[in-house]
Amino acid sequence: MAVDILLGLQWGDEGKGKIVDVLAPTYDIVARFQGGPNAGHTLEFEGTKHVLHQIPSGIFHSHIQNIIGNGVVLDPIVFQVEMKKLQDRGVDAAQNLFISKKAALILPSHKVLDRVSEEAMGSGKIGSTLKGIGPTYQDKIGRVGLRVGDILAADFKERYNKLVERHRKTIEYYGQKLEIEEQEQHFFAAVDYLRTLKLADTEYLINDALNSGKRILAEGAQGSLLDVDFGTYPFVTSSTTMVAGACTGLGVAPKYIGEVYGIFKAYCTRVGSGPFPTELLNEEGEAIRQAGREFGSTTGRPRRCGWVDLPTLKYSIMLNGVTQLNMMKADVLTDFDTIKVCTHYKLPNGELTDRLPHSLEADELEPVYEELPGWRVDLNKIDSVDELPDAFRNYLTYIESHLHVPITIVSVGPDRKSTLKREAVKA
Ligand code: GDP
Ligand code: IMO
Ligand code: MG
Repeated sequence: MAVDILLGLQWGDEGKGKIVDVLAPTYDIVARFQGGPNAGHTLEFEGTKHVLHQIPSGIFHSHIQNIIGNGVVLDPIVFQVEMKKLQDRGVDAAQNLFISKKAALILPSHKVLDRVSEEAMGSGKIGSTLKGIGPTYQDKIGRVGLRVGDILAADFKERYNKLVERHRKTIEYYGQKLEIEEQEQHFFAAVDYLRTLKLADTEYLINDALNSGKRILAEGAQGSLLDVDFGTYPFVTSSTTMVAGACTGLGVAPKYIGEVYGIFKAYCTRVGSGPFPTELLNEEGEAIRQAGREFGSTTGRPRRCGWVDLPTLKYSIMLNGVTQLNMMKADVLTDFDTIKVCTHYKLPNGELTDRLPHSLEADELEPVYEELPGWRVDLNKIDSVDELPDAFRNYLTYIESHLHVPITIVSVGPDRKSTLKREAVKA
């Protein structure tokens, strides 16, 4: 059997949590492979909204095993709060959740490092969620980090102290003091809790499952344009958000990769700093923000909004080998008479291209748009693809004809039920 992967093709927040929850019943395992509490994945069903940060979005299905893979950076404090929230809502996540012993641990001092490093960058800051993601991945790659499995070692406290001393020196270099006594108490309480859970060599779990014919869905976090190699560097996150990240972040050989679901909004958003060619810094952007409730699930920050950008989507599709597309939130565009689609960029020398130049900064390119008629129908009220208005069908087929990948899922509202499955149309 194969591992199917669902991942964001834009700058995150495409609606990954919702679609993983929708697809989950057809899988045996749902696994997160990278990122950490910088992610905020929203699920809505039966009138309740849930936001998950580190726990996979298959958790509401008790028969599905959920795995936090080795590629994830795990904050025990945030994790304990998440588990408690689930418990309060009647979900016993402890019974169907497995955590890789190789996942990296986010310490309280990593979060301080994140903050002081951002403060030092001033106006050039990345706009990090300040959850300690960058500093934790730096320690992992620098081979000094701590991992979940280390909490089982007798000398865990000594190893912890050693790492915190390194961090203290760096923080002093920035002219600040490390004061985390209260956070450390929460951290060690959360570590005690973590020890009671199913810590495992999850690469075996996953490969055994594959060998016994089980179906696995890997849930991406962030999006391809935030990938540390191919995203809008340096305004990116610190992990591989693409298909390759699922191989290294779960321990899956490339030959086992099956379907790749590429998920994107019918428009585009970004939170934090960095270039965004189709950004709308006007009342249209504000209208999308309000209609789409575009405020961060993790930080509450307003998301920057703009039109859909085909060159970036083509790039993400190419790098991930996307086999099916999921279009999200078209219902948000109901009030627009005209929908714009960026098809190309105009470079400073006048050349038109649909390839990404080295920099996506505004002085390096100008987006070129095609205008399509809006549908002016509340898509959220629609229950089947047959009822979709012609103007919206036209929008779907127009995008498919440029991207050459079928849009098999169309989401028209935040609820689980507002999901339309579409026959694969050959583009
Ligand atoms: P993720 O990080 O990719 O899981 O996405 P987020 O949860 O951060 O952001 C997506 C937001 O859009 C959430 O508030 C969802 O409830 C909401 N959402 C998802 N799909 C749709 C949709 O089709 N229409 C509307 N209006 N909202 C949606
Ligand atoms: P989900 O999984 C949107 C952005 C931050 C910042 C940059 C680096 O919900 O789609 P980091 O905290 O990783 O150092 O921040 O990446 N970012 C996200 N933007 N959705 C996310 O996750 C994000 N995770 C990080 O805003 O610009
Ligand atoms: Mg999100």
